Amino acid sequence: MTSELRKYLCKEMKNQKNKMIRFVEFMAICLYHQEFGYYMKRRNKVGKKGDFYTSSQVGDIFGETLSDSILLFLKQNEFSNPVLMEVGGGTGSLMQQILTRIREVDAQLYARLRVIMVEISPYHAHIQKESLQSFSLPKMWYKTVEEAARNERFQGVIFSNEYFDAFPVHLVEKARGEWYEIGIGFEQEMETKKKKSYISPASNTVQVADSDEAQSVVFLEGYMPEVSPEITAIIKGLPKGLPDGMRIEVQAGVSEVMDALSSMLERGRVISIDYGDSAEDLYHPSRKNGTLACYYQHQMNEEYLERIGEQDITAHVNFSRLMECGDRVGLVTKSFTRQDQFLLANGILEKAQDHQDTDPFTSVAMKRNRAIQQLILPSGLGGLFRVLIQEKLDR
Ligand SMILES: C[S@@+](CC[C@H](N)C(=O)[O-])C[C@H]1O[C@@H](n2cnc3c(N)ncnc32)[C@H](O)[C@@H]1O
Repeated sequence: MTSELRKYLCKEMKNQKNKMIRFVEFMAICLYHQEFGYYMKRRNKVGKKGDFYTSSQVGDIFGETLSDSILLFLKQNEFSNPVLMEVGGGTGSLMQQILTRIREVDAQLYARLRVIMVEISPYHAHIQKESLQSFSLPKMWYKTVEEAARNERFQGVIFSNEYFDAFPVHLVEKARGEWYEIGIGFEQEMETKKKKSYISPASNTVQVADSDEAQSVVFLEGYMPEVSPEITAIIKGLPKGLPDGMRIEVQAGVSEVMDALSSMLERGRVISIDYGDSAEDLYHPSRKNGTLACYYQHQMNEEYLERIGEQDITAHVNFSRLMECGDRVGLVTKSFTRQDQFLLANGILEKAQDHQDTDPFTSVAMKRNRAIQQLILPSGLGGLFRVLIQEKLDR
């Protein structure tokens, strides 16, 4: 399958005038090619048998705490028939935790809920349908937020955990005082090899051969002749003093997604949880190498030209952009906090349990308390993740 995807990529590159595709297109194909893309394959990605863990895999406590905050919001604002919509739900475990908690705490409100899942991967949508089967509520699945927006208008809460970090990114590098967009070509065909001026000195050192490919095509980086029009304004707005060699990523499609979310949500809240930062902290010399990372069997690596379609590729989310794009379409920022602060403010510590069983292997309470620690540790998930709450309310 890797070789099919490599062939497809080479064909796409050959079709271009300069024999390169933008990194953003390369990443989109690696993750979302209909048949061979990483997220589209019938294979576990999240959890023990996959490539990475998410907060909902750490324990039910994450979903329970998020659920309490959602419940409070729904009650305070008297939503009569609220919708809970999750975008990019993976295995469905977070929605499962949230629904379980609401059913326990407020059966009346639970009975009035409708559930919408937006999931691009048919494999994940299938697992989600199974894991949410026991909740006898009206449920609906869409592939993208744009598709959902064409069909839905509702009041309620839209949430996501690690959805925006899966967006393909434009990769941009500064050289000799100018910003260049990175493109990917392959060894035999890349015309820019002859035009040395387009090739980044740093990039020349990152040629990586994929050993399983008999014809040993080597994917390599170059500079595109021009930066994509959709990111020129963002590039112009970057701080002037950033050093040569600095790399940044710009998530594609954020504005369109915010438009779609806002057009569906008549009244309610959008909660986006992810690793990332404000633009000020992301586009800072201390992050000179950018934040692009790959995950394969629970190991992080930076070799995104390898294991094509077999590993996750991801980048930190620029939350300032989510806020700006949201603001433009009436989603007003209510709060932007670190995950630990959000969970503490929503009572995660009160969920810690006293226990007599001190065997770390058998004690359920100890496991739960360990999960709390993991979720709020400032040096771990608690400090890395951010929670953005945007609202559209009629007051
Ligand atoms: C990193 S996983 C997060 C899973 C889950 N939220 C959790 O906390 O365990 C990303 C999920 O988003 C889905 N996804 C990625 N891009 C998407 C898109 N554009 N639209 C809808 N779902 C998407 C993936 O298939 C996957 O289920």
